[in-house]
Amino acid sequence: MRINIAIDGPGAAGKSTIAKRLAKKLNYVHLDTGAMYRSAAYKAVKNNIALDDEEALCNMLSNTDITLTPEGKVYLDQQDVTSLIRTDEISLAASQVSKLANVRSMLVKRQQDMAKDKGFIMDGRDIGTVVLKDAEVKIYMTASAMARAQRRYDQNIAQSIPCESVEQIAKEIAQRDMQDMTRKNSPLKKADDAIEIDTSNMSVEQVTDTIYAYAKPFLEKEVH
Ligand code: DC
Repeated sequence: MRINIAIDGPGAAGKSTIAKRLAKKLNYVHLDTGAMYRSAAYKAVKNNIALDDEEALCNMLSNTDITLTPEGKVYLDQQDVTSLIRTDEISLAASQVSKLANVRSMLVKRQQDMAKDKGFIMDGRDIGTVVLKDAEVKIYMTASAMARAQRRYDQNIAQSIPCESVEQIAKEIAQRDMQDMTRKNSPLKKADDAIEIDTSNMSVEQVTDTIYAYAKPFLEKEVH
């Protein structure tokens, strides 16, 4: 049967990399919900909208098109912002706008509408706890702070995204973890029924295979 898979966890834990792989393996759609918060933050910064002005941000969002392609490209109002939304500035700005309840509910609705026919692998912070509460498989992915900073650094270098040192990235990740875990609305936390995977010492293949093994019994289930 077709299922939904929810992957949550802190920044740079490898969620998107794994979700992308798994989507390819299962011929499912990967939805990187972080890219939606990043796009909202990018547009707000460009338009000088304060990152805590909930009303202005919601007005902006009601006239905003965010399209994520199967190839992993992100289009904001038809402009390719794939790399532009990955800077440290936008990472922190995304974490800021994601605190606001009405901003969240607008984006959550879009995410739920997209995934209603199943066949989605969605990664974010609140997928197992809010967006897809009924997902058949829920994963909570973690990795040590150092492993995450090193991965993000390598990823930025590979994609020519401007960044400073590993230490600087570690600081930015710690600040974002703190904001995402302590906010009032939908804070990052493991869903009660999620499986926790610490990927610090695992390869991409090992993590993908582990999640696949959890999903397999559901995928093989006949629907009558
Ligand atoms: O996954 P990411 O690092 O691209 O996410 C950027 C920010 O967006 C993150 O710091 C918190 C927010 N976010 C969220 O609040 N809920 C989600 N489902 C996904 C991201």
